[in-house]
Amino acid sequence: MPDPTRPEGPKIIAIANQKGGVGKTTTTINLAAALAETGARVLIVDLDPQGNASTGLGLEVAARRVTVYDLLLEEAPLGEVIQPTMQDGLSIIPSTVDLSSADIELISNEKRSFLLHDALRQPAMDAYAFDYVLIDCPPSLNLLTVNAMVAAHSVLVPLQSEFFALEGLSQLLLTIREIRQTANPALRIEGVVLTMFDSRNNLSTQVEQDARDNLGELVFRTRIPRNVRVSEAPSYAMSVLRYDPLSKGAQAYRDLAQELIENTARIAA
Ligand SMILES: Nc1ncnc2c1ncn2[C@@H]1O[C@H](COP(=O)(O)OP(=O)(O)OP(=O)(O)O)[C@@H](O)[C@H]1O
Ligand SMILES: [Mg+2]
Repeated sequence: MPDPTRPEGPKIIAIANQKGGVGKTTTTINLAAALAETGARVLIVDLDPQGNASTGLGLEVAARRVTVYDLLLEEAPLGEVIQPTMQDGLSIIPSTVDLSSADIELISNEKRSFLLHDALRQPAMDAYAFDYVLIDCPPSLNLLTVNAMVAAHSVLVPLQSEFFALEGLSQLLLTIREIRQTANPALRIEGVVLTMFDSRNNLSTQVEQDARDNLGELVFRTRIPRNVRVSEAPSYAMSVLRYDPLSKGAQAYRDLAQELIENTARIAA
């Protein structure tokens, strides 16, 4: 039951695909930046021990004294783990390699699947008035990813426009179904977004066709093109929207944010 004395809270989206290098982190950073550009207040949760989202937004390892590990396993206060970024309206809970042991440490914890869910729903979150929380998942269907899916309202799946792209997707969909049957019955699939799309490449077009044939409306209209500006931006500790605001990559992530906002409005109506 919603608590009438508390605000509704942010929309929480897990960005997940157990396949490595498909554009999860790139999509997390740039979709978050595009949502923040519309005036929304956005929090990224870096739930990957690789810490790529933290690095890509310019958080030096030395500045990551208190991380998502401390939030999940040490009950660190939100005020200590949420850090601002260079972009207005965009904050991050960073991670470091310490998180790699969490998967094992969580096993003996009775609330192991609910730690992120509970952390993001503590009353102290209200003061931040976030509109969106985007969770960057590791390339695995481990307990960290399960925590993300239990905490989230929906899952957004980046799909690289390459051979074998659809392989593994059935395992991911099965995991989502299992989480729905147990810990989070309301979990939705936000959509599948084609990443690193190259319209001159037949393979990209083939993957798109397969995805649309198999998944229909679940596939976002917006495709994220392969764009060198997108891959350069993290080394300047910026989203592509800041690094090269007029690039095709930046424009595509703005389009994706608009589509997401429209979908959310349609579901609420
Ligand atoms: N649209 C794009 N155009 C060009 N390069 C891209 C694009 N999207 C992602 N990349 C590059 O592809 C690589 C993998 O992307 P990313 O790190 O976002 O994937 P990931 O799914 O988060 O990987 P991991 O599974 O390791 O966490 C990175 O080097 C990134 O810069
Ligand atoms: Mg990543």
